[in-house]
Amino acid sequence: MTKRIALSSDHAAIDLRRKIADHIAAKGYDVVDIGPVTTENTHYPKHGQAAAQLVASGDCALGIILCGTGQGIMMAANKVRGIRCGVCSDSFSARMIRAHNDANMLSIGARVIGEGLALDIVDAFLSTEFEGGRHALRVDMIEA
Ligand code: RB5
Repeated sequence: MTKRIALSSDHAAIDLRRKIADHIAAKGYDVVDIGPVTTENTHYPKHGQAAAQLVASGDCALGIILCGTGQGIMMAANKVRGIRCGVCSDSFSARMIRAHNDANMLSIGARVIGEGLALDIVDAFLSTEFEGGRHALRVDMIEA
C-alpha cells in the first residue's frame, strides 16, 4: 500500500519542503503537504502540531517537518501524544531514529543543511523499518 507522508514547515523552509515533496512524490509516496504556501512570517508550533496530528491519528504513516533549525517544530510535534520526532542533519541518525526509536516523524533544519543532504536524510528515514526486539521495550517506556 502507498504510504501517506505528512509534510509541513514554517516560512523558513518552504523551498526545501517543496523539493522534498517533489522528491518523495516521484518515489511513489502519497504526499499530504499541508503548507504553508506563502513565505509570510508564521509560527512553527501550529504547523508542527498539524502534521503531528495527521500522524498520531493514523491518517499518515510518517511525517516530515521543517523550520529554520528543525528544533522548534520538532519540540511542538513531540507534544502530541504518540509522536516520536527527531531532528536529523545526517543520514545515519535518520536511519537510526527509525530502526531503534521507531520515530514516526523527521524534522530538518532548512537553514542548517543543503538540499542534497536533506533529500538523502529523507530517503534514509523513509526506507528504514523499526527493528523491534530489545528496542520495543524502550519505545514503550518513552510512551509510558
Ligand atoms: C524562524 O525565524 C525560526 O525561528 C524557526 O524557523 C525555527 O528555526 C525555530 O526553531
